[in-house]
Amino acid sequence: MTNPVITINGKPIAARIGETLIDAGLGGRILIPHDCCSGQCSTCRVTLVDGAVDDQGTAEGKTVLACQATVSGPASITFEDVPVPSRRTGIVKEIKELSPDILEVSVALGRPLDYLPGQYVSVRFSGFPARDYSPTAYMSGDLDPGVLVFHIRRYSDGVVSSRFGSRIRPGHKVRIRGPFGNAFLRPPQENGILVLVSAGTGWAPIWSLARAACIDHGKRDIVVIAGARDGANLYMSNALHWLRDHGVSDIITTCGQNQGSDDVNGRPFHYLPTLGIHDTVYVAGGPGVVTEVESRARAANVRCYTDPFLPSGETPGLFARLSGNIRLNGWTSAPDSYKPV
Ligand code: FES
Repeated sequence: MTNPVITINGKPIAARIGETLIDAGLGGRILIPHDCCSGQCSTCRVTLVDGAVDDQGTAEGKTVLACQATVSGPASITFEDVPVPSRRTGIVKEIKELSPDILEVSVALGRPLDYLPGQYVSVRFSGFPARDYSPTAYMSGDLDPGVLVFHIRRYSDGVVSSRFGSRIRPGHKVRIRGPFGNAFLRPPQENGILVLVSAGTGWAPIWSLARAACIDHGKRDIVVIAGARDGANLYMSNALHWLRDHGVSDIITTCGQNQGSDDVNGRPFHYLPTLGIHDTVYVAGGPGVVTEVESRARAANVRCYTDPFLPSGETPGLFARLSGNIRLNGWTSAPDSYKPV
């Protein structure tokens, strides 16, 4: 039996029935972007243009996960042009408190790292396990290509996050690997609205996306919904000022306990606008918010992008039992932040 031909971004490759699309690509010296290889991170999502593959239950519209889907016959797939993951070293430049629970940690790199707004990287503070965080802009709107800025929720028993200011201080060595993720900024569709929804430190990728959309997409209509568990942790007011100054007027801040502030009570998905078919939704944060927004977007047949985040506070053993398989990177111990798994 002759090997089926898989065409990847226009290049034909002789593949083997049953191998994953990533392996088929590697056989033809094509690197399909990937990270976890366990169906968790969505970095490897590709579009099936023609033919058929065994999607292994990962199909969303015309897309499948290339680390799970296998070759079942001739097919043509494409993936989007994204920066190739690479490694960098750096040092902690500054640690700043953004709210009672959330820190801004900036890392000065030896060499800039190319990434798209909304992507994430793996960060290993020397002597600690790696964690995944989304680089973002400073709250002022400034962006320094030689510095990665992260928002990190501080947990008193977090293996990494509890050590900022004590064992992790400015000058601490850092290793970075990435970028990864599928929730990066795409060009607008017709006159569709860009709806950006965050909960907690999910604001980091959403702020990165919002800022870039304002700068790169001109007069695009943007709705921003930012949530926090309480008013004290709605830490993004400077960034929201920047967005208002750049023409974004549809901004809602929500919190579970609004304590008499101007922020509205409830959860971010309570304030989603009516979605139209040309709109695009990005959501980042805890699984409750992400799942609800995703399902409302799916019901409206609207494009929705998110890197799957899970709340920390569980051991890998528990999550492994719950999910069957997980990316261990970032899950080797106690809680730190919401992060893609
Ligand atoms: S590499 Fe396929 S889902 Fe992460």
